[in-house]
Amino acid sequence: MAAQSRTTISTKELKDLLDTGADITILDVRNDDEFQRWVVEGRHRPSMVHIPYFVAVEEPDQFVKTVESQIPKEKLVVAVCAKGDSSAWIAEEFLRPRGYQVVNLEGGMLQWGQFYDFRLVPESAHDQVQVYQIQRTARGCLHYLVAYENDKVVVIDPPRHWEQVLDFVRQKGWTITHIFDTHGHADHISGGSALSKATGAPYFLHPYDAIHPIDVLPATIEYHYLQDGMSFRLGDATLTALHIPGHTLGNIAFLLNANGRYLFSGDSLFIVSIARPDLGGRGETWSGLWYDTLTTRLLTLPDDVLVLPGHFSQHAEARQDGLFAARLGDLKKTNEDIQRALSLDKEQFVSYLLSHLPVFPPEYVDIKRVNAGLLQPEPEKADELELGKNVCALASAYR
Ligand SMILES: [Fe+2]
Ligand SMILES: [Fe+2]
Repeated sequence: MAAQSRTTISTKELKDLLDTGADITILDVRNDDEFQRWVVEGRHRPSMVHIPYFVAVEEPDQFVKTVESQIPKEKLVVAVCAKGDSSAWIAEEFLRPRGYQVVNLEGGMLQWGQFYDFRLVPESAHDQVQVYQIQRTARGCLHYLVAYENDKVVVIDPPRHWEQVLDFVRQKGWTITHIFDTHGHADHISGGSALSKATGAPYFLHPYDAIHPIDVLPATIEYHYLQDGMSFRLGDATLTALHIPGHTLGNIAFLLNANGRYLFSGDSLFIVSIARPDLGGRGETWSGLWYDTLTTRLLTLPDDVLVLPGHFSQHAEARQDGLFAARLGDLKKTNEDIQRALSLDKEQFVSYLLSHLPVFPPEYVDIKRVNAGLLQPEPEKADELELGKNVCALASAYR
């Protein structure tokens, strides 16, 4: 990009710079607590300088001094704040007049959190179905499309910003035939129900996850029952639901049998680590179920199954081509929590799980309420609920 002539950068352009490893500096001017919570991350780690906005307001000379001591003038600076206004002011008042090449991130971290990257899973390029992994870069959430018979598509775990999915699908000339949620999510607001209303495509959820596990109240949204063994024909391929309780009671994974085999593992198997059992407030009970599911249902699947997870924790988990995917056989060699499930007995495994639980974000209880239709937040409140990276995995990386 011609940085000198530009004053702003879009989320997509920033993502591309991070993917290619461009030598940039992020100047993040949010407050300490916001900065501690989450930052811009990508495949390549940018230089990060954090100087809160209030320093520029209250001690402008100090602000300039810190900028000049920490940011080299020859590098492109991307100024970032919560919504894009404060950082725009900082860029124009403090950096550009001093000769910095600076661009402001449009919409700030709010927009960064709502950026989705649609990627074809290359293994499926010549299969009977084409699988797309939709990466929500900032939050580590992964959503999926399975396109079949040239003009139809199934959506798995649609995000809150379902309009972006619908735009993509319409550009391809596809019609959505089914919408699935692998489970009642705690970390992000599902777009399943809204996408179903907008398109008329049926929305499926396991009935156990249509009960809020902490409130013990039934969902008010409309949904179709999704149950173990239900099979959906997608042209010559089949998509089969596997009930895999543990992370939630109604947790589902989908096995896609085309020429190749794909497992949409949702929140169960990740590239690093596995899903945590406690986000429904029933960790002690669900840990044992989770062990049984892992050892009898998931880890007994064929090693050649390509696991497509519902989350990643670190960008480094991506393959060379940027996709978050791995063969089950490879995960058994690299994923330490999978190895524990295979080597420990039930009691040992449960005690391992319960002693390694990451912090429980309090907003997750409300997100589950939203997903059950028990709470309807204003868009700003919904943005707030979804801020930051997900913590759905047991991985120590999250703690
Ligand atoms: Fe989850
Ligand atoms: Fe999740």
